[in-house]
Amino acid sequence: MDQQELWTAVDAYLTDKLIATDPVLEENLRANAAAGLPSIDVASNQGKFLHLLARMHGAKRILELGTLGGYSTTWLARAVGPEGRVVSLEFEPRHAEVARANIERAGLSSVVEIRVGPALDSLETLHKEGEPPFDFIFIDADKQNYPGYLEWAIRLSRPGTVILADNVIREGGVIDPNHSDERVHGVRRFFDLLAAEPRVDATALQTVGSKGWDGFALAIVR
Ligand code: SAH
Ligand code: DHB
Ligand code: MG
Repeated sequence: MDQQELWTAVDAYLTDKLIATDPVLEENLRANAAAGLPSIDVASNQGKFLHLLARMHGAKRILELGTLGGYSTTWLARAVGPEGRVVSLEFEPRHAEVARANIERAGLSSVVEIRVGPALDSLETLHKEGEPPFDFIFIDADKQNYPGYLEWAIRLSRPGTVILADNVIREGGVIDPNHSDERVHGVRRFFDLLAAEPRVDATALQTVGSKGWDGFALAIVR
């Protein structure tokens, strides 16, 4: 077995042990595939990790950047309870359409609002509309804009807000200042900002699994 096969097999083991079979989430992934969406959702054990973090934090108001088919959205929405709110931002109308159908099937339409458009615009709109601060913010849209997303996340936060960013390791690419992928540069600028940002306390973890070698950055607003 090569390394990727082993990581995938271990994820399958963990998922089999710890994550209950879930027809709604399975149907979500089937619908995404049928609609031709890329399978770049979080893995099921990562989705449950997001869900548990949000629950541990008692989050009632969650902001997500990058909806895709609503897979991570569903994990997060299940953490906030029926009176909670999840706002998820998505650029591609087709992704949002697939996600809305999945959220409907999950019975979460009254909790989740999907806003279509470039996330930077939607963030500005949310701010102008006077949206109250979020308790938990998951950054998972285009990596080039992670630096801007961090700024907006802080603007839409309160002391104690948790900010989690996906895909910040990129198979180790993050340490290469001459990397050919613009997404890596976005993540590197994100780390520069995070390091210089007095308003947050942060760390980051590398992960391996069915989605390859990547990682999460985790921060709390002071
Ligand atoms: N969070 C999802 C995966 C998101 S994939 C999950 O784990 O299930 C990243 C998503 O960000 C894609 O759907 C892509 O269309 C979207 N995206 C890309 N650029 C964007 C932008 N500028 N604004 C908002 N969303 C964007
Ligand atoms: C990509 C985006 C993601 O959010 C992810 O988890 C994996 C890959 C991508 O754009 O390639
Ligand atoms: Mg991601």
